[in-house]
Amino acid sequence: MAKTSVAPDESDLSEDFYQRIEPLLYRRIAREVRDAERVLDLGCGGCELARRLASAPGRKVIGVDVHGDSFPERDAIEPGMRRRLRCIKADARRLEFVRSSSIDAAVSTWALHEMERASEVLIEVRRVLRRGGKLVIVDFPHDSIAKRLWRENYYRPEEVHGLLRGAGYTRISVRLVQRNQVIWARAFKPLPKEEET
Ligand SMILES: C[S@@+](CC[C@H](N)C(=O)[O-])C[C@H]1O[C@@H](n2cnc3c(N)ncnc32)[C@H](O)[C@@H]1O
Repeated sequence: MAKTSVAPDESDLSEDFYQRIEPLLYRRIAREVRDAERVLDLGCGGCELARRLASAPGRKVIGVDVHGDSFPERDAIEPGMRRRLRCIKADARRLEFVRSSSIDAAVSTWALHEMERASEVLIEVRRVLRRGGKLVIVDFPHDSIAKRLWRENYYRPEEVHGLLRGAGYTRISVRLVQRNQVIWARAFKPLPKEEET
């Protein structure tokens, strides 16, 4: 009997793979942070995700990127959203403009691998998250079509897990999703009772 191939369909893993799955990932992220009133987007680029998250009434979103070149012009942001969305040019290792324990959720897409001294970023994000606050990181994994396409240094899931553990997060989950082409990491700033254990 002929063997059934279980190899992924390479034709689907084409250059626009990540572009195609982005709307789905954004929806998943929006679900992850649906209860958060104050959200931080780390390495926000052109603030697309931050903008989308800021469309939820009552929520305030701060997008942070070390390069501000892709930020939208103020006029390009819907007037009703301007008070809810701030795009700030800053290094995510130094968020001195954010009060400690004031953020409900932090998100980051395709940026962790670009961040120098990522452990310092994660420690700083832990400072600004409230206790029990959630961090969601989406990035390209080391073994992926992204690596073949762009040849950058991407983390392995266990490395992301180690970074999160080292930075003092709890309830860490790091998974490969979307045909193993995406790292999906979730972690929390410990509650007092979680720090005791
Ligand atoms: C590949 S882009 C992703 C942008 C956006 N998150 C997206 O999904 O399109 C990575 C971004 O991370 C930013 N970045 C790298 N290191 C950073 C740091 N230490 N602090 C803040 N942003 C940083 C870069 O400037 C770049 O805009």
